[in-house]
Amino acid sequence: MRKKIAAGNWKMNLGPAAARQLVTEFLKGFDSAANQDVEIILAVPFIDLMLVAELIKDHPQVKLAAQNLHQLDRGAYTGEISAEMLAEAGCEYVLVGHSERREYFHEGDALLLAKARQALKFGLKPIFCFGEQLKDREADQTYEVLKGQLENGIFQLDEAEFENVVLAYEPVWAIGTGKTASPEQAQEVHAWVRHRIHLKYGDLAAKKTSILYGGSVKPDNAMFLFACPDIDGGLVGGACLKADDFVSIAGAFL
Ligand code: PGA
Repeated sequence: MRKKIAAGNWKMNLGPAAARQLVTEFLKGFDSAANQDVEIILAVPFIDLMLVAELIKDHPQVKLAAQNLHQLDRGAYTGEISAEMLAEAGCEYVLVGHSERREYFHEGDALLLAKARQALKFGLKPIFCFGEQLKDREADQTYEVLKGQLENGIFQLDEAEFENVVLAYEPVWAIGTGKTASPEQAQEVHAWVRHRIHLKYGDLAAKKTSILYGGSVKPDNAMFLFACPDIDGGLVGGACLKADDFVSIAGAFL
């Protein structure tokens, strides 16, 4: 009943020429017939959006995402991009709250909530990322931190809004470090998140919301992570930049 999702976050990598090559190779390698129930999301740099939209247009299983948006409709905000522009470019999703945005661009809970609402206003589905830092885990504060990020952020949405949200648990200590959370560690957090959704939005929402895991997902660990009952897929950074690796990850669902 929940969507299985393999999402690739290219971050600030690959201009249009390299984007064309990667997407073409991925589409060639990905067995869509064998993985019919898996949705692929490509979160690409703004400059690649329209090109990638064109490349995936005959592949309804493959969706386009942006990595960021501005929280207002339009105006004098040099260098920013609006939800309306992203929708027009063909995006169906947008990342909100990635730890790199939280850390390097100081995006806090209120801003992230405003961005999620702005996305929804223009028909984009937010992929809301959250996760604890190593110091939080070591201080036994993981759940407190996650609770704050959820409750001050995406859990402020009402029930109808929340239906269009995908969650991505990304422990910051596992992002780009090669240190993956073990399937047991990840499953424990995912089950807890699903329980929080249940408390806030009810049983149906808890059953329907896809919760992705992110943080050093690779071809050799994806299958073990995705086999966990509350892990509905992955948000993949480094490994999505290699077509073969992303093909294996996208094919790692049982
Ligand atoms: P990683 O990145 O797979 O390179 O750890 C994940 C992410 O930042 O979404």
